[in-house]
Amino acid sequence: MPLSRIQATRMTNNLAAILFFSTIIAISSAQTSTPIDRIGVNYGKLGSNLPTPFHSIELIKSMKASMVKLYDADPETLKLLVGTDLHVSIMVRNEDIVALAANETLANQWVHENVFAYYPTTMIRYIMVGNEVYSNHNIEQWDSLVLVMQHIRNTLHAHDIHNIKVGTPLAMDILGSTFPPSNGTFRIDTLTTIVPLLQFLNRTGSYFFLDVYPYFPWSSNPDTIDLNFTLFKGNITYVDPTSNLTYTNLLDQMLDSVYFAMSKLGFSNIPIFIAETGWPNQGDLDQPGANEYNAATYNRNLIKKIVADPPIGTPARPGTILPTFLFSLFNENLKDGPKTERYWGLLKPDGTPVYPIDLTGNQTVFGPLKEPTNNHGYKGKLWCVVDKLANTTQLGPALRNTCSLLNGTCESALGPGKHCYEPVSVVWHASYAFNAYWAKFRNCGEPCYFGGLASLTTRNPSLGSSGVKIRIID
Ligand SMILES: *[C@@H]1O[C@H](CO)[C@@H](O)[C@H](O)[C@H]1NC(C)=O
Ligand SMILES: *[C@@H]1O[C@H](CO)[C@@H](O)[C@H](O)[C@H]1NC(C)=O
Ligand SMILES: *[C@@H]1O[C@H](CO)[C@@H](O)[C@H](O)[C@H]1NC(C)=O
Ligand SMILES: *[C@@H]1O[C@H](CO)[C@@H](O)[C@H](O)[C@H]1NC(C)=O
Ligand SMILES: *[C@@H]1O[C@H](CO)[C@@H](O)[C@H](O)[C@H]1NC(C)=O
Ligand SMILES: *[C@@H]1O[C@H](CO)[C@@H](O)[C@H](O)[C@H]1NC(C)=O
Ligand SMILES: *[C@@H]1O[C@H](CO)[C@@H](O)[C@H](O)[C@H]1NC(C)=O
Ligand SMILES: *[C@@H]1O[C@H](CO)[C@@H](O)[C@H](O)[C@H]1NC(C)=O
Ligand SMILES: *[C@@H]1O[C@H](CO)[C@@H](O)[C@H](O)[C@H]1NC(C)=O
Repeated sequence: MPLSRIQATRMTNNLAAILFFSTIIAISSAQTSTPIDRIGVNYGKLGSNLPTPFHSIELIKSMKASMVKLYDADPETLKLLVGTDLHVSIMVRNEDIVALAANETLANQWVHENVFAYYPTTMIRYIMVGNEVYSNHNIEQWDSLVLVMQHIRNTLHAHDIHNIKVGTPLAMDILGSTFPPSNGTFRIDTLTTIVPLLQFLNRTGSYFFLDVYPYFPWSSNPDTIDLNFTLFKGNITYVDPTSNLTYTNLLDQMLDSVYFAMSKLGFSNIPIFIAETGWPNQGDLDQPGANEYNAATYNRNLIKKIVADPPIGTPARPGTILPTFLFSLFNENLKDGPKTERYWGLLKPDGTPVYPIDLTGNQTVFGPLKEPTNNHGYKGKLWCVVDKLANTTQLGPALRNTCSLLNGTCESALGPGKHCYEPVSVVWHASYAFNAYWAKFRNCGEPCYFGGLASLTTRNPSLGSSGVKIRIID
């Protein structure tokens, strides 16, 4: 799943926000249309080059999303959302969970500051307590989760507010087994805390918020899982031998594995709300299938499924509505990890679409897209070297840091007189160190990124531009 997207709260120009605030009320009171209330976007802000919140919200409205999910409760953004007809989801940060559980007054105060200050003119409808809390092994947070949810709900009820659901988005790693779907079960280590969570969701009529990415199981097994099945295409079906249910796509399998896991614990009526899903539009050379064609195909076909009337649901829960937040609004360049992490966006940072898409599902015919060329990933040899655009002043510290993790590898190759000492250049030496580190740990999922200083190449860097071997990298 996408790596953590903890959002830095950015307070920029409050005055501007207040000015725009009054303009928006004027504009939106004239609006009457209500978009279908099923498709929203995740508004992540981990980019150095993203539009302002004001411009971003204008973009979200022009895309006709009906909901927006924030990874925080940023005051500027919540003020700008006043008077729009967007349903809004806000989030309690993971690092605040333990404190809010321990002190109900503090939780109460959180709701006053982050909900009541904007509600009801900002249509806050969901409060997410934490983000993928079970994906970190922080038992204190697991133990505190339901208590915070309970405190927040008590505060809402004390103020007679009944149209805000309290939940927590969880990733698929909450399950210990997912296949076949009928075999879905929760991870054993989560059971003592997942049961009270399910009780809360069931009792309060909330949703099981799920971050679900068919891209991940497919891209780890592109030779065994059919790509068309993953993209809601083609005519492949799979019959679960235990339930006899027939599956036509991977998303339904993943959703049903969660439904089966809940049913096994006695909860057969908690609906799933897709808190994140999507497909990356670019990736590293060795990452299969991350391209605009597949991203457009996945998201368009997903929207078609979600907005269908009557609702389609899944084989185990036919006919149920699956409200969905697409991930993500923008490509976000400040995210670490493999290249796909920075390319989940529907929009480029300049606000233009990566590919045409209609979030209402009304438009179903689009112009042709470039056929994908990387559905299998590059299978030849790759090297991890200093990127052309790397900031060279950061290379020295990165070189020292990487070498310190390599137990003498650098010293025995890059030291004076050693076989890779020449040419004496921080770029060449850093390329040596990055490649050595990546080669050692790539099987453990280490990406070739080094904070943006490195990228993969198919060209053997040991050969100089003249083709002469310069022995910089083994
Ligand atoms: C709980 O939080 C409130 C509000 O921030 C604070 O005034 C109070 O001292 C806290 N109580 C404890 C026991 O920390
Ligand atoms: C069900 O899941 C368990 C645990 O992961 C696994 O051992 C078992 O093989 C699975 N059953 C089937 C039929 O795949
Ligand atoms: C996927 O579906 C397309 C048609 O949509 C078809 O041309 C292609 O052969 C299919 N690929 C596989 C591997 O089934
Ligand atoms: C379904 O797939 C089979 C085998 O790949 C192919 O022969 C058949 O034409 C496909 N049918 C449709 C409707 O795409
Ligand atoms: C699944 O189908 C098989 C064969 O038709 C049948 O024997 C079995 O009872 C069915 N199982 C379920 C759970 O419906
Ligand atoms: C779920 O909630 C319903 C309605 O409140 C209740 O009847 C049922 O017993 C609950 N299920 C569980 C397993 O707690
Ligand atoms: C849906 O699409 C049709 C044809 O493209 C268009 O005339 C109509 O205005 C659209 N409806 C909405 C609600 O966008
Ligand atoms: C390069 O990195 C240095 C040190 O982190 C920083 O001060 C400088 O602004 C960066 N230059 C560019 C063009 O990003
Ligand atoms: C460095 O050495 C330590 C202790 O021998 C070992 O645990 C660690 O895995 C080594 N690291 C590398 C990159 O080889």
